[in-house]
Amino acid sequence: MADTAKKPTLPDAQTVTQVKHWTDRLFSFRVTRPRSLRFRSGEFVMIGLLGDNGKPLLRAYSIASPAWDEELEFYSIKVQDGPLTSKLQHIKVGDEIILRPKPVGTLVHDALLPGKRLWFFATGTGIAPFASLMREPETYENYDEVIMCHTCREVADLEYGRQLIESLPDDPLIGEFIGNKLRYYPTTTREESPNMGRITTNLLNGKIFNDLGVPQICKENDRAMVCGSIGLNTDLKEILEGFGLTEGANSQPAEYVVEKAFVD
Ligand code: A2P
Repeated sequence: MADTAKKPTLPDAQTVTQVKHWTDRLFSFRVTRPRSLRFRSGEFVMIGLLGDNGKPLLRAYSIASPAWDEELEFYSIKVQDGPLTSKLQHIKVGDEIILRPKPVGTLVHDALLPGKRLWFFATGTGIAPFASLMREPETYENYDEVIMCHTCREVADLEYGRQLIESLPDDPLIGEFIGNKLRYYPTTTREESPNMGRITTNLLNGKIFNDLGVPQICKENDRAMVCGSIGLNTDLKEILEGFGLTEGANSQPAEYVVEKAFVD
């Protein structure tokens, strides 16, 4: 821990306080939070390390911790030849990362019109902004029901989200806001699990509505936030528009919003 006392050597340096490896392709970590940083749950910032050329190598990362948390949490893939994550995956407690304190993003409550049921649709590390929003009191103040849908290739890829969601009802800070409003719908596509199939398929064939015992998504009651690969985002946009929802933005709130998950 002696390292944490050393002087920052990077511009916008923050110190790593925790690292957890979930699989050989996924890890999460926490860093100190700049005092001046204010953000809305669901937003992202640019973070990174110094590249071999001495210049900052930065990528967009959703903040996975809620706006009220003293630290910042991130959830990342590890790409063995990825310019940033090939290095970032080796960070240890006490190391420094670069964090530009300019949060932005569309997966925020301000971009949605009032509704009854809020759907979070994520694949892979796209669950990160929802890890923030699921810990945000406003999420439960604004909606009667919140449904977290997460699709991954394998069961182990769901573990970060599963452990977080299971811990929330007993959380001393957020538990009372959640009550029994938060529902979890995890599916896998390449390994056997109780619930199989892509989110998109399960929406189109109605399986998800049957399984959860909720009516089909409609413009009057349902709001959605989407975060995944470009393919997922494109396909889900079409499906949500098919249900009558229109895309919102900070400047023009509507019924759903979309953001691309970080890919190295
Ligand atoms: P699949 O296994 O059928 O490709 P990835 O690791 O490639 O980012 O994928 C994460 C999860 O997202 C996988 O379960 C994958 O399913 C799913 N997925 C990828 N593309 C789409 C898409 N266009 N629509 C729905 N799910 C998708």
